[in-house]
Amino acid sequence: MADHAAAHAPAPSIPWWLQPAATVNILTGFVLYSTWVALQGHGSIGSYLSPFYSPPVKIASIPISPAFWVLWAPAGFRATCYYYRKAYYRSYFLDPVSCMIPESRRRYAGETAFPFILNNLHRYLLYAAVIVLVFLWIDAINAFFFNGRFGIHLGSLLFLVNVVLLSGYTFGCHAFRHLAGGNLDCYSCARGGPARFRLWQWVTPLNHQHAAWAWASLFSVVAVDVYIRLLMGGAISDAALF
Ligand code: FES
Repeated sequence: MADHAAAHAPAPSIPWWLQPAATVNILTGFVLYSTWVALQGHGSIGSYLSPFYSPPVKIASIPISPAFWVLWAPAGFRATCYYYRKAYYRSYFLDPVSCMIPESRRRYAGETAFPFILNNLHRYLLYAAVIVLVFLWIDAINAFFFNGRFGIHLGSLLFLVNVVLLSGYTFGCHAFRHLAGGNLDCYSCARGGPARFRLWQWVTPLNHQHAAWAWASLFSVVAVDVYIRLLMGGAISDAALF
């Protein structure tokens, strides 16, 4: 009898504000951490280069942290991402909190006025993010070489996981999927149609899980940087697995 009653007990309800509050905390924490990292001015040890500092750009006549030459691309790409837009509109601005709740603003300008009109740059920031991703793959390969010899350390695996997650996020982008085939009515009639169809088929499952890739890659970027900074500070040593 008790089992029967327990089976029909209503599920405990989750407060509506929990998800927006978590989103605000995580995204604000990420922005603060990224700013702090960029202000450090360095982020490498041995063959490991922090993803916040890749590619390493230095202009001697302009003495600012190398991170600032790079971060605008991935930061702009994430800030204008369709998924993150939904997340931060709903959590930071409660606009709207969910589908059934009306708009909180009297006048809705959408993304036709400053600053949100800048979100339309997303498709261009995609190209910049892909270039940065190429450098991150080079860094991930370098992370398997120590003094010219191949090896597998814990850091190497972290680099690999991070770049795979970033690739899943980048190639699952809505703009990339559109580039692959979203603007075609007929693949067999288009130039390079079969190849574009295969590419579209490959990126579509990534696109369906875009939110998961977005969060996982956000955490992995921070994890790699924290690992490097712990190594730099001598707080840990890099475990050699092979
Ligand atoms: Fe999220 Fe493009 S839509 S990265």
